Amino acid sequence: MIKSQLVKQFSNPHGLLGHLAGRIMATRSTNVERNRWIVELLDPTPDSQILEIGHGPGLAIEEIWPQLTSGHVVGLELSPLMSNTARERNQAGVDAGRVSFRIGDAQRLPDDLAGFDLIFGVNVSMFWPDPAATIADLATRLEPGGRLTISYMPPPTSDNSADAIGAELLGHFITAGLIDVATDVFDFDPPAVAATGYRVPHATSEASNPLAHRSPQR
Ligand SMILES: C[S@@+](CC[C@H](N)C(=O)[O-])C[C@H]1O[C@@H](n2cnc3c(N)ncnc32)[C@H](O)[C@@H]1O
Repeated sequence: MIKSQLVKQFSNPHGLLGHLAGRIMATRSTNVERNRWIVELLDPTPDSQILEIGHGPGLAIEEIWPQLTSGHVVGLELSPLMSNTARERNQAGVDAGRVSFRIGDAQRLPDDLAGFDLIFGVNVSMFWPDPAATIADLATRLEPGGRLTISYMPPPTSDNSADAIGAELLGHFITAGLIDVATDVFDFDPPAVAATGYRVPHATSEASNPLAHRSPQR
């Protein structure tokens, strides 16, 4: 009974059990390692403008912000408890102007959250009732050429493999108009998957001119 209530907390931690769920996320070695892996995969540049959806205790943000000089990372969370926990963990980044936190729902993002070079989420997409719609909206929040990465690690009891989840995510990415889509699988036990796609870059003036590469008409 308590176990099932604790499991539910991971979708929106609150109250006493929410504190416990946050503590588990912050200390479980697989979660710590997975967040490190994702940040390595994202490889942010010092000026990257980044949005993390559902950051929980803020492990990935803690890895990212020291790499930024002029860049900035915004953390968006449904749970006010997790937003406060992540802020405490990353207070130095907030004070340095490299990090900010917003409370909100990935399924109803405010208009001003846009223009990002990188948007990512770790173990959060399974809580979206309509992942295709959420991914389509996130794709519009990227700068041209910007990158969306969604990672998931199915629990050991799940019927879904990392490969199956990755394929499903890539389908949503393609429908959203993202290009160069691909998955990376990390060999945890069980494996974790990260699906990545890019927003179409700005057309160059040559590429946007359909006649630019044609032979002269005679
Ligand atoms: C399983 S936890 C993962 C936390 C963190 N990404 C990590 O790997 O440690 C999922 C987090 O996503 C948040 N979340 C769930 N649905 C969300 C939504 N629709 N919008 C924003 N955050 C959401 C939850 O509150 C929770 O903190």
